[in-house]
Amino acid sequence: MAALRIDVLTLFPEMFAGPLQAGLLGKALREGLLTVELTQIRDFATDKHRTVDDAPYGGGPGMVMKCEPLVAAAEGLRDRNSLERVVMLSPRGRSLTQAMIREWAAAPDLVLVCGRYEGIDERVAKALGAEEVSIGDYVLSGGEMPALVIIEALSRMIPGVVGNFESVETDSFYNGILGPPQYTRPQEFRGMEVPEVLREGNHAVIERWRRKEAIRQTMRVRPDLLDRCAGDDTKLIRELKREQDAPLEGETP
Ligand code: ADE
Repeated sequence: MAALRIDVLTLFPEMFAGPLQAGLLGKALREGLLTVELTQIRDFATDKHRTVDDAPYGGGPGMVMKCEPLVAAAEGLRDRNSLERVVMLSPRGRSLTQAMIREWAAAPDLVLVCGRYEGIDERVAKALGAEEVSIGDYVLSGGEMPALVIIEALSRMIPGVVGNFESVETDSFYNGILGPPQYTRPQEFRGMEVPEVLREGNHAVIERWRRKEAIRQTMRVRPDLLDRCAGDDTKLIRELKREQDAPLEGETP
């Protein structure tokens, strides 16, 4: 299978240099396991001031990114990118999930469009058949950081990038819910012991304990994810609920 190709349209390509060189992502790019190409949107402006933004119709603060340079920049990729998946980063978009990352990682290519200012002219998404995607309910100054988040998450799904794929399979969200707690040496730190079950080496018991603790954490901080549990998980959920409802030692029921 050919390496995933990601084209990024941005006004700030210099923001990508450091993150694209470091760690597993940097290594994967050097080894050609995926390709990231940056395109400066301003290179596609046609006036002598290289204008890429303008005042919003209807008034209001800030500036809006213009249609023509952005669409020309995207269409200029046509000989290298199918343009079948164009994602525009915006706090107005659909929330990013691991399922979306998995789907895009299996595709041949992807275009990421980084917005700036108050937003991008609504007609750009229509012209490119693009989807708006948000990385969370907070506002950043532009789509560059979100694009890097997506590139990094995609890289982890590509065979060979994370040396031990088992570590991807135990990531939070890979199996729908949050991941289990992890411990390393020393065995005791400030009076806190590593759970005994992890030290006993019974693989099946450890796996069950980890799944139960993953569900415990999900129940505590992300109960909205629990409907992704099925089969043996329902047993563990019942068990955890019973433990919650049981009176504590010394407490009168
Ligand atoms: N641009 C600004 N804020 C953003 C967010 N939360 N997600 C994606 N793109 C953005």
